Formats: sequence, structure tokens, C-alpha cells
Amino acid sequence: MTMEDKMRLVQALPLSPSRALLQEMGMDVVSNPTREGRSLRRQVLKGAVMVFVTAGYSGKRFIFEKAKELGVRSVVLDGPDSWVQLLVKEGVIEKFVPIDFSDVDTVYDRCLKAVRDVRSSIGELDGITTFCEMAVPLASRLAEGLGLPCNTPQAVDNARDKHATREIMAKAGLPTPRHWKVTSEADVPKAAAHVGFPAVIKPISGAASLGVIRANNEEDLMKAFKKVQHDMSRAKIVAGALVEGDDEGEDVAGNAGGWIHLELMVEEYLDGAEVDCDLIFDNGRPVYGAITDNWPTVEPYFNETGSNCPSVLPKAAQIDLMELAVRAVQSLGFKLGVFHVECKYTSRGARLIEVNCRMGGGPVRDTNLLVWGVDLVEEHLMAFAGIPVRPPVARRPLKQMAEYTINAQKTGHIKNLDFLEKYHKVEGVLYARPLVAAGAKCHCVADGMPTWLCELMVVRPDVRDAIAEIKRIEAEINHELETLIQ
Ligand SMILES: Nc1ncnc2c1ncn2[C@@H]1O[C@H](COP(=O)(O)OP(=O)(O)O)[C@@H](O)[C@H]1O
Ligand SMILES: [Mg+2]
Repeated sequence: MTMEDKMRLVQALPLSPSRALLQEMGMDVVSNPTREGRSLRRQVLKGAVMVFVTAGYSGKRFIFEKAKELGVRSVVLDGPDSWVQLLVKEGVIEKFVPIDFSDVDTVYDRCLKAVRDVRSSIGELDGITTFCEMAVPLASRLAEGLGLPCNTPQAVDNARDKHATREIMAKAGLPTPRHWKVTSEADVPKAAAHVGFPAVIKPISGAASLGVIRANNEEDLMKAFKKVQHDMSRAKIVAGALVEGDDEGEDVAGNAGGWIHLELMVEEYLDGAEVDCDLIFDNGRPVYGAITDNWPTVEPYFNETGSNCPSVLPKAAQIDLMELAVRAVQSLGFKLGVFHVECKYTSRGARLIEVNCRMGGGPVRDTNLLVWGVDLVEEHLMAFAGIPVRPPVARRPLKQMAEYTINAQKTGHIKNLDFLEKYHKVEGVLYARPLVAAGAKCHCVADGMPTWLCELMVVRPDVRDAIAEIKRIEAEINHELETLIQ
């Protein structure tokens, strides 16, 4: 859509009550980074009608609860059997619209029709958005098609395509690791020659580290290529997330191909510490940025382990990382919203892993809220409702935290996770919860991507103490698990 088309569309839109209020108050006062400004922004958001494209898994319930608390009228488009419809009965969301997302060719038109029906039944919309990685391209197209605040589908597609991200950053003069697209076995030796070793192979538009593997030589790389190609052809989209397919049974073909490119790429292995840069943009400018250190993953599959915030990296490294993250988002052409940018501080300086153009999953929302007082859910809703975004960032960390997810170190069945109970009483432990049920099958890295067993978060006055405490608990738990997994 050209800029002129967009302007015409936006000018032709009738004003929603929220937008009318925003105009009446005036952008200047609503943009004030003061307590009063914030109260006005919340006044505008209250009553706004927000359409969510897919709900994600039920663990994303907190998003809809926060929206409700802020007075947002949420409408959710999701699969006919989605858990989210319960939230209508509970009064958390206003409307659930069942959509069959499996027919990818017609899904845009069907969603557009559904959204127009919503508009005629409950009133003008303020925004269309999503918190699910796989649905970001669809949500941005729907928002653009209806003249609502959004990033361009082009920017979103380029972030969802890791090869395109690398090419765009290189053109923008930003540091770019060597990379090579591989679509067939014949490309593997070319990729090996161009990239060198160690290397990483990954789907160009994957998620959740699925199919991301380290290879130390050409033989490893060929093996990894065959494995990832096989796995991706079986991968599925379930509740808006990319998940591993089932190898057993006849119906093994996955449906992920309709949603994402299944091509793979090989790139240089980046050494050093990994971080998340959580950013918020408004009008093309960053208005918030925070760094969380990520702990070494379980290689060769890069399964996540733990993190801490604030970062303990040297200030100069943090500044380089933040600058790179911001420039990466800008070079891709993004203008607004929340971004979860993954980077590494390598022996040659800051390098990008990927730009996720949505809030990070797992502990990311809690982390930013605890440490910096910034609620990424609230700011995301503001951004996509067209309200200026000025998060109230704490000058110093409000709390200092570390969190950890235990990866199974043994293959077998886990008897139970009752031992987690005792950590609820430990001072500073915010949560200690199981991720699998008693009796569940689990496996260690020797048998594939390790199973996540349980997760914990600890706060302490100093982040180094939080790290030490989590490490102590981790060692204790792993010791208990030696006998509990048989
Ligand atoms: N080039 C690389 N060098 C080192 N580690 C990498 C590289 N690419 C990815 N990783 C590791 O794999 C993880 C997942 O890769 P990523 O590109 O973020 O894919 P996904 O979209 O599945 O999250 C990263 O968080 C990082 O730990
Ligand atoms: Mg990632």
C-alpha cells in the first residue's frame, strides 16, 4: 500500500470513541512523559476496541487479563476449539470469533470479513494486533488493510525472514555475520565454504529455537541439514506457535509450510554472551530499551536455560548491544510497538541474532515489569491503539532478578516434581513451577532437544546474589532429579 493510499484510508475512517478522545485532548498533552500524561493515555485506552489475531497458548491469559484491567474491549480471532472462548464467559474478553486458520490462502479474506462484522456489531475498532510470532504478518496486513496503526507488512516479513534481515542490515552498513541460504543438499558444501566453521543452521523463519543446530564440520552440517529439513516438513503451527511434528503415525506432514518459509540458512557461529534487548518504539523512535543477560544455552540445539536482569555485562558492551538492536529495528523499517531483539556480544563486538517484532515470551514480561516497572503488554496495547507510548521507566532497577529453566540431564520418566514445593517458602523466590506432569517422559541433549522440566525466578537486592541463589537451587534440583528420573 502506498503512503497516499494509507492516508486516504485513514482519513476516511470514522473516529472510534478512544480516537475522538485522543483528538480532543491533543497529542501534545497525551504524549507528556509525566504521571498526568500517563493517566491521560490510560483514559484514552480505556474502552478501546482491540482485535487480537490468535490467542496463543493458554499461558498467554495474563495478556487478556491486563487488557481487561485497563478497560480494553478485547476481541479475539482464534481456532474454533480455542481455550480463549472461556474468557468471554468469565468477562475477560468481549468477543471470541472462531476462525479456521488452517486454510492459509483464504485466511486473510476471512479474517477481514470477520473484523468488519465485529466493527458493525460492536463499533469502530482502535487496533488489530497479536502477541503470537506466527500471526504477526497476518495482523499487520489486516491492520494496514483497515487503516489502523501498524508496522508495514514488508518490515514484518523481513524480520520474520532471517536471511532478509541479514541482507538488509548489511546494506545499512551494520555488522553482519557470513550467511548462506541452503535449499538442497548441493548447497551444503557451498555454505560450508562460504561460512566456515563452527556454523549454525536454522530455518529462515523459525521460532523457539526449533531446527537451530550448531555444526562443527561439513559432515555435521550435512547431517543437521537433513535433520532440520525433515523436522520442518513435519513441524506444525499449534495455538499460533511453531512446534515439533510427530514422527510416529501416517499423517506426519506438518502445516507450518503454509505459514512460514521452510528454507534453511547457514551462518557463522557467534561466540560470546547472549542478551535480549527489549525495545519499545513510538513513531520510529526508541522510547524504551532494557538488556537481559541470557545464560549459555544447551548446545547443539540452543535450548534456553536462564537469564538475569539488570545485565552484568560491562556498560560499554551494553551500549554497543543496545545501539545495534535499535539500528537493526530501524533498518528493517519498523515504526512502533514492542520488539524482542536477540544479540550476542562476540569477541568482535555486538552482533544480531534476530529481531522478533512482538513482545518476548516466557519470563520477558515479568522481567521488564519487575526490574524497570515497564509493562510491555500495556505499552504494546497503547502502541497498536494509536496512543503515544511513553513508558514510565525506573531510574534504577526496582528489583534485581534471575530465572532458570531446568533442562533434563537424563532420559527417562520423571516420577514427580513435588520437591518444587519447598522453594515456595524460600525468600525471594517468586515462582517455582513444573513444566511437565508427574510421570512424563523426558530426554536429555544426547537424545535431541532436551525437555524443560521446571522453572524458577528469584529476586534479590543485587542481581549477582539472585544469580548465585538460582545456581544454588539449580544444583540442588539436578541432584534430586538424578533419582527422580528413571
Ligand atoms: N549464529 C549464531 N551463533 C550462535 N548462536 C546462535 C546463532 N544463531 C542462533 N543461535 C542460538 O540459537 C538460538 C535460537 O536462534 P534464533 O535465530 O533466535 O531462532 P528462533 O527464531 O528459533 O528463536 C539463539 O537464541 C542463540 O542462542
Ligand atoms: Mg530467537
